[in-house]
Amino acid sequence: MSVFASLQPVPADPILGVTEAFNADQSPDKINLGVGVYVDEQGRIPLLDSVTAAQADLDQAPHPYGYLPQTGIPAYDQASAKLVFGANSPALLGGRIVSIQTLGGTGALRIGAGLFRLATPQATVLISDPSWENHRLIFERTGYTVGTYRYYDAQTGGVDFDGLLADLNQAAAGTIVILHGCCHNPTGCDLTPAQWDQVIAVLQERDLVPFIDFAYQGLGHGLDQDRYVVEALVDAGLEFAVANSYSKTFSLYGERVGAIHWVTADASEATRVASQAKTVVRSLYSNPPTHGAELVAAVLNTPELGALWEQEVAGMRDRIKAMRAAFRTGLESAGVSRDLNYITTQVGMFTYSGLTPTQMARLRQDFHIYGLDSGRLCMAALNQSNIERVVAGVAAVMG
Ligand code: LMR
Repeated sequence: MSVFASLQPVPADPILGVTEAFNADQSPDKINLGVGVYVDEQGRIPLLDSVTAAQADLDQAPHPYGYLPQTGIPAYDQASAKLVFGANSPALLGGRIVSIQTLGGTGALRIGAGLFRLATPQATVLISDPSWENHRLIFERTGYTVGTYRYYDAQTGGVDFDGLLADLNQAAAGTIVILHGCCHNPTGCDLTPAQWDQVIAVLQERDLVPFIDFAYQGLGHGLDQDRYVVEALVDAGLEFAVANSYSKTFSLYGERVGAIHWVTADASEATRVASQAKTVVRSLYSNPPTHGAELVAAVLNTPELGALWEQEVAGMRDRIKAMRAAFRTGLESAGVSRDLNYITTQVGMFTYSGLTPTQMARLRQDFHIYGLDSGRLCMAALNQSNIERVVAGVAAVMG
């Protein structure tokens, strides 16, 4: 009997499997609105000018590729912490934050989960309903039981805020609550600052442990505005984790650059957390890769490049907003009569279209337009060349 005999095939990944299907499609008209990847007006994944300039600087001083520390490049970790928490964050200035370079946002979540598993193995994890498809897998594979809290209201195309509060109010003390810092994936429905304040009050009252997934900082309202929840959690005095990623905002998808940050009670606890975190990294991949993090560190630590990058992020954010507006207007002009307000009120890369799995399948088969079965469509992959075809296809399947 083979050692692998018990393994059954599983369905393709709900996001990455769509890219596989897209790649296999021979149609010259195919459009991929599945995976969360920003594509520019020319239909290309952009190579940012700030990144190109940082690369040119690095090329001036080639160096051998030895092992990095387990925690990554120190200048990268520090710059990431400043970006995520704000340079004047009292937690940062107080030496209470541990930051570690990771393999993208997924790696950050996985290292964060691994550390929490050492600290609170009995806890359970709650993710939003719906959430990024990979959250459940990451936390279950780390050994956690994963439940959900209500989040999306299909009637309004917005947040089910009462449901969210009610479910958090039922959670056992110590529960790890995964929250999307901004640009909720997949719904695009974010909490207002006032709603965050209410959520934080419940987290605090019920002794829950927030874990912020922060993969889209800057693509919502701005780099500073998007960190509202992070700052508010620090102000409230909570201990928590943040997973950040540069895949989208630096257009460095394949470089796998992210970071995990833990806000601890004091500097001595931070030292213990950092020491244990190294064992989590060691058991998974020993130490992270160099190149992408060098680029990000060079941009974030060089004022002119940092300023250029901020402009480039603003450019992506504005283009996504413009595409949302064009998508909505296009559908209205095509005669879709349902309320489409949600397209322009949702923020970030995704619109949660309300299309059913059957409608999404028809969109693929008849129009070669690929989105997720959940109805999620990536607005960041729309451009002037493909929007008419997308509008025509979506209008046809919406009926
Ligand atoms: C997405 O949600 O499409 C992205 O975060 C890519 C991924 O790895 O799922």
